[in-house]
Amino acid sequence: MANPVKKHVDKAADVLAIFGISGDLAKKMTFRALYRMQCAGMLKCPVVGVALDDWDDDALRAHAREAVEATVKQIDGQALEAMLARLTYVQGDYSDDATFDRVKEALGGAKQPVFYLEIPPSLFSTVVKGLGKAGLVDRAHVVIEKPFGHDLESARALNDELREVLEEGQILRIDHYLGKEPVLDITYLRFANSILEPVWNRNYISHVQMTIAENFGVDDRGRFYDAVGAMRDVIQNHALQVLGLIGMEPPTGNDPDSVRDKKLEFFRAMRAADPKRYVRGQYDGFLEVKDVDPKSRTETFAAMELWVDNWRWSGVPFFIRAGKCLPEKTSEVTAVFRRPPLLGIGHGKTPEPNQMTFRIEPEPGSRMRMFQKRANSDDFEPADLEVLFEAEPGADPEPYERLLGDALNGVHTLFTRQDAIEETWRVVQPLLDHPGRVHRYEQGTWGPDAANELVKGVTTWMDPWLPGE
Ligand code: BG6
Repeated sequence: MANPVKKHVDKAADVLAIFGISGDLAKKMTFRALYRMQCAGMLKCPVVGVALDDWDDDALRAHAREAVEATVKQIDGQALEAMLARLTYVQGDYSDDATFDRVKEALGGAKQPVFYLEIPPSLFSTVVKGLGKAGLVDRAHVVIEKPFGHDLESARALNDELREVLEEGQILRIDHYLGKEPVLDITYLRFANSILEPVWNRNYISHVQMTIAENFGVDDRGRFYDAVGAMRDVIQNHALQVLGLIGMEPPTGNDPDSVRDKKLEFFRAMRAADPKRYVRGQYDGFLEVKDVDPKSRTETFAAMELWVDNWRWSGVPFFIRAGKCLPEKTSEVTAVFRRPPLLGIGHGKTPEPNQMTFRIEPEPGSRMRMFQKRANSDDFEPADLEVLFEAEPGADPEPYERLLGDALNGVHTLFTRQDAIEETWRVVQPLLDHPGRVHRYEQGTWGPDAANELVKGVTTWMDPWLPGE
C-alpha cells in the first residue's frame, strides 16, 4: 500500500480513540489515567472506545466508573462525571471494514486523532491498515504498547507493517518506564549538576549495576509471561532504556530527538551481549502457575553483563538483574566509583567506593554514598547525601497520564523510536539465540547463586537502598 501520509503536525489532538477499551490494561490503568488527566485539566477531547464486546455508550461508562472506583482512593465526583461524559463506544471486529466506518462516524470530523491500540501486537497491523483504508491516518498519531516484536527480526517485521501506512513520526511507542518521574529525574540530575559530569566516566566509575526486582510472581499472567520471560519483559526495554539515560552523552538542542539521539548512540556503542555472561533463573513454583507449560524453561530472573565501547564507558561493566519473587519490590541503578587507595588513616583499611544510586522505586530519589570517620573510632562509616524526589507523593503525573497527555499534545520525546528498539534487540539477540540453562531459585531470594558468580571479581550485588535507611 502506498504511504498516504503527508506529514505529521505537532498540535493538540481533537479526539482520542482507544482500541481494546474493554481489556485488562484499560481496566487497570487507562480509565484511572483518563480520570487523573481530567482532574489535572489535561483531558480536553472526546474519547471513543472501540472493542468487540456488545456494549453501548452506557455500558462503557458503567465499566469505566467501576474501573475508576477500583483504582482511585478519593474520587472527585464532578471530575469523574466530566470524564465519563467524554466517552462513547463503537462495537466492532477489527477485520471488518464496517468497524472503521463506524469509528470514522464516531470521530465526528476530528482532524487530528490519536489512536491508542491496547490490543495484542498481532492485531496492530490489522487495525492500522483498517484506519488507513478508512482514510483516518492522514494527521493521526498511533500509540502502541510493548512488546514491539519478540526479537530483532520480528521487531523489524512489525515495524515494516506499520510503516506501510504510517510515518515513523506518527508511531508513538510506549515504554511506561520512560513516563516515570524518577526516570526523568535521572537526566536532570546528571545534566543539571556540573559536579557530576567530570566524574561520570571510566576514569572514576568502576561499574554500574541495575536491579529491577519484584516480590511477587506472575500471578494471573502465566500465558503471557511464559512466552516472554524476564529478558523480553523488562530488560530489553525498561532496563536498557534507563541505562541509556545513565550512560548517554549530554543532549544538545531542544528538539524532541535530542535525548533520543544520544540514547541511540549509547545503544549503538553497546556490544552484543555474551551468552557466557548471562544467567537465567526460574522461581520454584513457576511451573505450577496457571497457563504455564509444566516443562517451561522460561526465565523469571535474568542477570547479565554488558559493555559499552566508547570513550566514556570503555572497560566499565554494566550489570543488570531483574526478576519475580525476589525479596523486595525495588528498581534502582547505581554507579559505583573506583576505590580510593590505601590510606594512612582508618587503621590502614581501604574505604568502600563511593556510590551514586538512582532509585526509581519505592520512594524515588537519589543517594550519593560518601564515607566519613565513625565517631570515637578510627573506622570509616557511610555518610549519605540523599535527595527524595517526591516532596508530595502522588502529585506527579503517573506514567500513563504523562505519556497519554504527551501523545495528545504531540510531544514525542518520551516515546521510543524504532532505531533504538532495533539496537536494544541487537544487543540481547545472542542471549535469545543461546539462552543457556535455567537455574531454579527459592522464592524470596535474590535469584540463583550463578548471578553472584557473574559479578564476582568485580563486585557484589548491592543490597537495595530501601526507604527509611
Ligand atoms: C511491565 C511488565 O512492563 O512492567 C511487568 O510486563 C512488570 O511484568 C512491570 O511487572 C513493572 O513495571 P512497574 O511500573 O509496575 O514497576
